[in-house]
Formats: sequence, C-alpha cells, structure tokens
Amino acid sequence: MPFNDLDAVAKAVTPKTVAILLEPIQGESGILAATPEFLRGLRRLCDERKLLLMFDEVQCGMGRTGEFLGFRAIAPDVQPDAISWAKGLGGGFPIAAIWARGPYANVLGAGTHGTTFGGTPLACSVALAVLDTLERDGLLRNAREVGEYFIGKLRALSAQCPVIREVRGVGLMIGIEVTLEARPAVLKLAEHGLIGVAAGTNVVRFLPPLNITCADVDEAVEKIGQTFSGSGAK
Ligand SMILES: Cc1ncc(COP(=O)(O)O)c(C=O)c1O
Repeated sequence: MPFNDLDAVAKAVTPKTVAILLEPIQGESGILAATPEFLRGLRRLCDERKLLLMFDEVQCGMGRTGEFLGFRAIAPDVQPDAISWAKGLGGGFPIAAIWARGPYANVLGAGTHGTTFGGTPLACSVALAVLDTLERDGLLRNAREVGEYFIGKLRALSAQCPVIREVRGVGLMIGIEVTLEARPAVLKLAEHGLIGVAAGTNVVRFLPPLNITCADVDEAVEKIGQTFSGSGAK
C-alpha cells in the first residue's frame, strides 16, 4: 500500500485481513519515516477492525533511531501487537527475534516456528552482550546526538551540492536522495573510500555503527562532498 496513506490502507482491509505489518521507518525503500498520524491512525484502524498491528524493526530497531524501539522516535504512544528484530540485535552475528503482546504471546509455541540454527545459545549470548553494550556505552544517546550532527552536516553540504536533492533520517538511519541512480552513486562513493548502501531508486543509505563519533562523520561528509561535488557527478 502507499506509505503514509491511511485512507488507502483502510480501503484495502477486507474480512480476510488479519494484520497490518509495516516498517515504521522504511529502509530498503529509501529511508522513509512514517508520520506520527499514520502510525496512530493504523492503531485506531486495527482496533476498530480487530487486526494486529505489527512492526518490522529489523532495520530501524535496536537503537538505530536513537530509541531502542525505532517507532518510539516517531510516535512513542503507539502500542504495536508484535515486533520483529534482527540485524543490530547480533551486532553482526546472525540472530533474529520476534515479540508479541500478552494476548498473542502464546500463538507461536515452542517448535511452531523452528529453524536449524534458531535460538542457539551462542547467538543468544552474543545478543545479550550487544544489549549490555548498548546500555553500558550509552549508544542510544550517541545515535541520537551524532545522527543529528550527521544530518545537519549533510543538509549543509546539500546546499552547495545540487546532486543531493534531499537528506532524510532518524538517528543513525540516514539517506541522501541524489540526482543519480543509487547503485552508481554508491560505487562512486566507494571510490572515495566510503561504504553506503543503495536504497529505492536514487537514495544512498548510511547505517553506520552506533558508536560512530562526530570526527568520523566529518571524515564521511568530506568524502561525500568530494564524491558528489565534482562536475562529473551528474
Ligand atoms: C526491514 C527489513 N525486514 C526484514 C528483513 C529481512 O530480514 P532477515 O534477513 O533477518 O530475514 C530486512 C533485510 O534487509 C529488512 O531490512
């Protein structure tokens, strides 16, 4: 369904609909944040039509937005019924998890959703170490503060760099929409020594480690400027 279009979602609900699942901040589609009104409207719609509201926080969860739960950076008052996580949960080690609210917690019992390597003690130990580190090192605050600094620097750069059309982001989930196609843009950046990820048709995504510093950001923004300010960039 079109993102942030509550009427369109409401019209698509049929008697066969059981749930609405969305990323509160879309990653792959180009760093597009839900509006607070959209999330609140979806909650109301789900309550009225007896549907589950499920958030995919595989990319935006685990502190990336500066909040442990990504949607709370947008609408902290919204209560989803289920949330999924992966990526940041293992800090690079493969693990994923799902949470469901009280009444639905037993829908999936032990063994209902098994996988060969699911729930291994090693992966769970790694995830616990990641969670401890997030808390001990104040990485949520770092994601908020350095994310704001990064976005500010990119907006300042975009004022002198017409290739950058828009800068979007929440915490350290950041995208620049460029006038180039995303993939060649990412390759150009790599030539200057910076790794970005293509998203949507023309967005370069930055999902840096949550312990990145402002000095790291300065270096990155310099490389982004070198990449996209040259006359050949268009
Ligand atoms: C938002 C989102 N959901 C789900 C997935 C897939 O997760 P997994 O590889 O753990 O199945 C991805 C992977 O990129 C993602 O970005």
